[in-house]
Amino acid sequence: MTHALPTGFEQLEPIPEDRYAEWLNCWLTALAEPLGTDPAVLEFYRRTYPAERGLAIADADGIVATNISLDTQLVLPGGARVPAVIGTGGFCHPTQTRRGLMSRLLDRIYERAVDEGKVACADWPSEWPIYRRFGHGPAAWYDAVRIDVRRAGLRDEVPGAGIRLRRVGGIDARDAARDVFTRRSHTAPGELIPPDGFWDRFVTDPASSALDALCTLDDPGGGVRQCAVLDGRGFVSYRIAPGWSTEKAPDGVVHVVDFLAVDPEAAGALWRFLFSIDMVAEIRVPRLPVDDPLRWWVTDARWLHSRRRDGMWLRLLDIPAMLTARSWAGDGTVTVGVHDARGWAAGTYHLEVDKGVGVCHRTTTEPDLELEVSAMGAIVLGGTSAAGLFRAGEIRGDSGTVRLWDAMATPERAPFLAYVL
Ligand SMILES: CC(C)(COP(=O)(O)OP(=O)(O)OC[C@H]1O[C@@H](n2cnc3c(N)ncnc32)[C@H](O)[C@@H]1OP(=O)(O)O)[C@@H](O)C(=O)NCCC(=O)NCCS
Repeated sequence: MTHALPTGFEQLEPIPEDRYAEWLNCWLTALAEPLGTDPAVLEFYRRTYPAERGLAIADADGIVATNISLDTQLVLPGGARVPAVIGTGGFCHPTQTRRGLMSRLLDRIYERAVDEGKVACADWPSEWPIYRRFGHGPAAWYDAVRIDVRRAGLRDEVPGAGIRLRRVGGIDARDAARDVFTRRSHTAPGELIPPDGFWDRFVTDPASSALDALCTLDDPGGGVRQCAVLDGRGFVSYRIAPGWSTEKAPDGVVHVVDFLAVDPEAAGALWRFLFSIDMVAEIRVPRLPVDDPLRWWVTDARWLHSRRRDGMWLRLLDIPAMLTARSWAGDGTVTVGVHDARGWAAGTYHLEVDKGVGVCHRTTTEPDLELEVSAMGAIVLGGTSAAGLFRAGEIRGDSGTVRLWDAMATPERAPFLAYVL
């Protein structure tokens, strides 16, 4: 199923090298983010969002619609990885919207992903209502947290006492962040492995926060990027916005951008460090796992002001590959009938899990459960409750099988995605 290209438009795939800056500027219009003049920023984009993965539609006056599908691997419960794409960079100039240009590019992204043997397309919708019609569902969630440092306080029992972090910058920061992320991703369901160029953020001007805003969808505050590392195990980057209360008491805010830890001791050491910074009243963390231990490490968790957000949406393309590759928390047999108006994942699938290992294949038997592919994308990692979707009428069938699905699918750690790409 592919939308026709309206007359007067031309589709570009890949983006010609000499039109890369035009393509990028068109996309960045959506984010109101000027490219600026730092050559390291253009290099960051070229390496993170390579021209050969880009798509565009142009009219006689130039490029009007953009998209890109990045090569990635999705980390599943149990640590296995499946090939996937990140669909991002979606933009259509306001003068040309609602003519099907984005639909045309998305259909091409799915088609190409299937040809490449990808199991799913992941994305972060700018607006909730856009992507369900394309078969995407919210699979991983996160909390955006504001910590009142003085009232929340850290408990003495928090791990990592006595560990000092080391400050790093530039290339050392880039290598340290990538190293910790890579180690951590082995046990981080929901994580998507970014292109290598993504870590070049740390070699751009430390006074510019535009790329940090892009990858956290948050205001990274003013100030200069600062990074601290616990070698091989923990990495944090942040900016400090100084402030003074009306009583002229220090009232600064620490804006965290990266928070990466491979184990509880490393995480505890990072929190101890952040809570110890002088003249700071608040720590803002743009993305925290919904089951992060921090709630149990502060003296009073009511002073963690958190807001739940949808973090990653998944559009499944190969359901048997996904259900076979992930590990399961319990055993059982489930047959699901999946509706997919675009066709890619439509069918009935029989899943049998024994000792946490799933075998899945297409079947012609009657399904226990029926749902849209968007709902299947939401529940597939166990980050969204099937019981909740059942109560909402989005899953139909046997309530016992819904409970069985949740018992089997909910992983030890909630799926979480550290960055937006
Ligand atoms: C979102 C955007 C890319 C859509 O581009 P477009 O070319 O107008 O999209 P299409 O014409 O292919 O529309 C596809 C469908 O999505 C719907 N849609 C598009 N944008 C929507 C929105 N913001 N909210 C709800 N529905 C939306 C359309 O109505 C259409 O529905 P239909 O198929 O039922 O008729 C464009 O409006 C844009 O660039 N917005 C700003 C940047 C942005 O939000 N990008 C998305 C990145 S995740």
